[in-house]
Amino acid sequence: MFGKKKQKPEIDKDQLQLIENAQKRIKQKRGLYIHCILFLIGAILLIVANVALGIGKDIKVMGVEWFVPAILIWLLLLLYHVFNVFVIHKFMGKAWEQEQLEKLVSKQQVRIEKLKQEFKKEEVIKAKSDLFNEATSGSALELESGIKSELTIIVAAAENDAIGKDNALIWHLSDDLKRFKSLTNGHHIIMGRKTFESFPKPLPNRTHVVITRQTDYKVPEGVIVVNALEDAIDACQGDKQPFIIGGGQIYEQAIQIADKIELTRVHESFEADAFFPKIDTTIWKETNNIFHKKDATHNYEFSFITYERMK
Ligand SMILES: NC(=O)c1ccc[n+]([C@@H]2O[C@H](COP(=O)([O-])OP(=O)(O)OC[C@H]3O[C@@H](n4cnc5c(N)ncnc54)[C@H](OP(=O)(O)O)[C@@H]3O)[C@@H](O)[C@H]2O)c1
Repeated sequence: MFGKKKQKPEIDKDQLQLIENAQKRIKQKRGLYIHCILFLIGAILLIVANVALGIGKDIKVMGVEWFVPAILIWLLLLLYHVFNVFVIHKFMGKAWEQEQLEKLVSKQQVRIEKLKQEFKKEEVIKAKSDLFNEATSGSALELESGIKSELTIIVAAAENDAIGKDNALIWHLSDDLKRFKSLTNGHHIIMGRKTFESFPKPLPNRTHVVITRQTDYKVPEGVIVVNALEDAIDACQGDKQPFIIGGGQIYEQAIQIADKIELTRVHESFEADAFFPKIDTTIWKETNNIFHKKDATHNYEFSFITYERMK
């Protein structure tokens, strides 16, 4: 914003030439306009000089008063001027016209070529997204076996949607952990690299699918590493209910395509650096809600809420 030089608008050679030509035409027309006015005033003055003031009353040219041929000669000059402006200079010559035409054609060809390339790129993107949509269409994923798979987000979020701080959970709610374990047991669990690193070790009896942009990310045996959410979903073929288990970045992307959300709403607000996206209730319908009171092992009230994507 500050200290930036103002960029001068760039005018290419062709545009400059067009501007110069336009200026030339304006000058030519202005000259003709002034000539017309001078002619009218001059003709009147000549008539007045001869008829009213009697100047050269005795001078005749081919039997007529001298001012008649004088005005006729001036008129001829004026007509030549008109011809010059509107016919001779209307076009800047055939060669110039041809040159302009060729320039225009070559510019259009460059633009057509560019558009063709952009069109091709868009077609590739569309084909890819169609493929992805097909894989995740409607809501449930169609597995190779033909069974519908239900992509489920599982999350514990505070009232202010906080889910974590400094790559760790903010609370300890044993019943929530039990629920997480029982729901995800035997399934694929998809997570971002940071969430994976927040575990001391991989959880037993679950297939971990870790999303990272790194190409040489090292993981213990059995853990699947992918470079995109779509690839993570592909890696869950055969699983009727793969789970998205976080964190914030992955939830943000997965909420667009998931079928179900298993939310533990912790009824408090916390300072955090990772958040769950807002649940749009025009898209998500609450289908279950179980409230838990505070007790000796739970410092906060919380509710298990299930949302399902509306068809
Ligand atoms: N309350 C809960 O239920 C819950 C659940 C899980 C996690 N959490 C908390 O959430 C926090 C972590 O969440 P976070 O948002 O910081 O990180 P995250 O979502 O766990 O992981 C982010 C990482 O995932 C990779 N990634 C993200 N989008 C990608 C994409 N489109 N393609 C390829 N790779 C992609 C990147 O890894 P690279 O940098 O390696 O490329 C990125 O740095 C922690 O505090 C954790 O405790 C809370």
